[in-house]
Amino acid sequence: MKYFPGLFITFEGIEGTGKSTHARRLYAFLEENGHPVLFTAEPGGTEVGDQIRSILLHPKTGGIDAITELFLFEASRREHVLHVIQPALQSGRIVLCVRFCDSTIAYQGYGRGLSIEMIRNLNRLATNDLVPDLTLLLDIDPEEGLRRSLHHTSPQELRFEEEFLKKKDVLCSIRNGFFKIVAEDPKRFQVISTVESKDVVFEKIKNYVLSMIQDKKRRNVP
Ligand SMILES: Nc1ncnc2c1ncn2[C@@H]1O[C@H](COP(=O)(O)OP(=O)(O)OP(=O)(O)O)[C@@H](O)[C@H]1O
Ligand SMILES: [Mg+2]
Repeated sequence: MKYFPGLFITFEGIEGTGKSTHARRLYAFLEENGHPVLFTAEPGGTEVGDQIRSILLHPKTGGIDAITELFLFEASRREHVLHVIQPALQSGRIVLCVRFCDSTIAYQGYGRGLSIEMIRNLNRLATNDLVPDLTLLLDIDPEEGLRRSLHHTSPQELRFEEEFLKKKDVLCSIRNGFFKIVAEDPKRFQVISTVESKDVVFEKIKNYVLSMIQDKKRRNVP
């Protein structure tokens, strides 16, 4: 794994857990407090990635092959890492990214049944072995998550929600998949239930991140 001077924080979890809400709020908080910070999200984050995103999330794409879907996510990720995430980390920024490699393991691996090992290899290839410093796994009951998500997602990006409305068991497997990923690498994760109010949840997130920033500063002092 390469060393980058910045800090890489990812937000993971199933639909409607509050990833975008809290990542945006954290972005605003860090910026107000003078930290160099970048907000981004997958799939997307580059010209090519945004086009891939519209294919992946548009309902008219329908039920594409699982490996085709995997390649599209990884293609978007490679562009994102090379042109956005790595340069920002190299210049010392805090990068907040909604969804990253763990989503692919959870959705295409535990959700679609593709080989976890194969996905890990493709993730490594796509990212040049980049691993987040901290991953916030936000968690909610799948029914509640879908309810929240259907409420705010644009009709052009509802492909996964529409599928999970019909196949709730797949969404449950994905949620359990995230917990298995955490169990294999517990130090990288903070699991946070978003059942509580947004303010209570955000306070927890803010405290984890501020302590991580302090740790990193301490380590950088010779
Ligand atoms: N405690 C909470 N934390 C976060 N969001 C909450 C909370 N309570 C209610 N919400 C609402 O739930 C919704 C979460 O949407 P958000 O887009 O942040 O989730 P997401 O995880 O990014 O979902 P998606 O994967 O569908 O993009 C928002 O409408 C938000 O206002
Ligand atoms: Mg979102």
